[in-house]
Amino acid sequence: MIFVTGGAGYIGSHACVELINAGLDVTVFDNFCNSQPDVLTRVARITGKAPTLVQGDIRDSAALEAALRASGARAVIHFAGLKAVGESVQNPLAYYDNNVLGTLRLLQAMTKCDVKTLVFSSSATVYGDPQRLPLTEDHPLSATNPYGQSKLVIEEMLRDLHRSDPAWRISILRYFNPVGAHTSGLIGEDPQGTPNNLLPYVAQVAAGRRAFLNVWGNDYDTPDGTGVRDYIHVVDLALGHLKALQRLALHAECRAINLGTGVGYSVLGMLRAFEQASGKPVPYQVAPRRAGDIAACYADPSLALSLLGWRAERDLTAMCTDAWRWQSSEKG
Ligand code: NAD
Ligand code: UD1
Repeated sequence: MIFVTGGAGYIGSHACVELINAGLDVTVFDNFCNSQPDVLTRVARITGKAPTLVQGDIRDSAALEAALRASGARAVIHFAGLKAVGESVQNPLAYYDNNVLGTLRLLQAMTKCDVKTLVFSSSATVYGDPQRLPLTEDHPLSATNPYGQSKLVIEEMLRDLHRSDPAWRISILRYFNPVGAHTSGLIGEDPQGTPNNLLPYVAQVAAGRRAFLNVWGNDYDTPDGTGVRDYIHVVDLALGHLKALQRLALHAECRAINLGTGVGYSVLGMLRAFEQASGKPVPYQVAPRRAGDIAACYADPSLALSLLGWRAERDLTAMCTDAWRWQSSEKG
């Protein structure tokens, strides 16, 4: 049994599918602040098996501990958290509360239940403005906004915890830019309001829901002047969590591992790939740089290959085709 916080969210729901497909039982603990319970019905439609659902907030220690104990889980995958950079600048305390305090409460509940295996959702944002590329796990860490700071604090908390008690088994997965959706078209990313991230915005332009894409700057020091990122298919990302659990079954350690493809694509490159996959035009206009953006960010994913035997398999066409199928089937 695996206990999955935030399992109804974008990445968590895809992870639930892969966990169940691998024969594992899953309990999802989610407060639905950024997802719908209906997602778990869809997970059941894909896999033929529904995860057990407990609605609750990870900051509610009593409810969390009761759910973890009742589940009988021996490992936790911790996706629950807030993730909007702009919102974190406006309301930093919500991010320290939900992300940092929420994780602290989770670790306390795990300690009480003697569950000491954890896979944590971190982010490439902890590398700050890259000093060198590709990014290796030993690159210096920094944060440029409260969301990133919350991930850094949690990472430090996890390293301290493992130093204090080496029986803990902790995998800190640093995601690059998750995109795409399950091939069934039944689950995917469902941003509330105007999407901040590139691919959901591009998908809505292709679907005719928005007139054009704003390209935030074309004067970066990159091949076509637009920002370069390491986009990774969410199903590849989900599979990385399974591999992390498999490694933790054999190793008591606390390690940070990049999950990316190692390949960077520009904004215009993504736009063209999406036009091809969808068969729809994606009009754009060049706008000023977005505050806080960096020119380029991509992973050295070799540690994941050597430690986990994991590498991303799905290419840019699959990322765009699957995102388009989800956009078309779900939102029409
Ligand atoms: P998401 O918002 O789709 O999913 C998060 C889930 O956690 C939601 O279902 C939400 O309802 C739940 N949740 C939030 N706070 C909670 C709380 N206090 N108690 C219980 N449930 C709570 O986000 P996602 O894209 O699936 O991201 C999952 C994790 O991965 C997050 O920690 C995020 O910071 C991290 N991450 C995401 C990205 C990305 O681009 N999507 C990149 C790097 C890291
Ligand atoms: C954002 C977050 C980061 C998070 C990451 C993955 C910010 C500042 N950073 O980073 O913390 O870890 O998502 O979820 O929000 N772009 C456009 N037009 C758009 C949207 C994006 O040109 O409408 C460009 C951006 O300038 C960037 C690229 O597309 O060059 C990717 O943007 P985005 O999807 O927001 O991801 P990140 O900037 O990597």
